[in-house]
Amino acid sequence: MSERATEDTLLAEAWRAREAAYAPYSNFPVGAAVLTASGQIFSGANVENASYGLSICAERTAIFAAVNAGERRIQAIAVVTAAATATPPCGACRQVIWEFGRDAWVVAENRPGERRHWTIRELLPNAFEFS
Ligand code: THU
Repeated sequence: MSERATEDTLLAEAWRAREAAYAPYSNFPVGAAVLTASGQIFSGANVENASYGLSICAERTAIFAAVNAGERRIQAIAVVTAAATATPPCGACRQVIWEFGRDAWVVAENRPGERRHWTIRELLPNAFEFS
């Protein structure tokens, strides 16, 4: 599969996952999909809670699904929202992406189809690590 096809597939999975978002407090549904080193795709959406701080982002939902399936290496992650500008992952999710993919690609898309690309190293310079 070409890189473009992979990216399109990953984004399509993220949009599909976003349908299941539970975001009644923010009204900001987010979808995410991760491509693991073995070529599998896992997706997730944000799930909020009346006790706001208990909410979980789409990216971590997707990554934790991958890890629960035994996948520990992330090649790429896609994040989709209906925001005016394609939204990069929040700081907490950046640290979680870093844990499983030091060279991960991050792609974000919004509803008009604007895409933005980064590496996790760009998004999270000087990541926290035990050393
Ligand atoms: N959210 C995500 O799912 N991913 C992010 O990277 C940032 C924020 C969710 C959390 C919350 O449910 C809503 O978006 C508004 O912050």
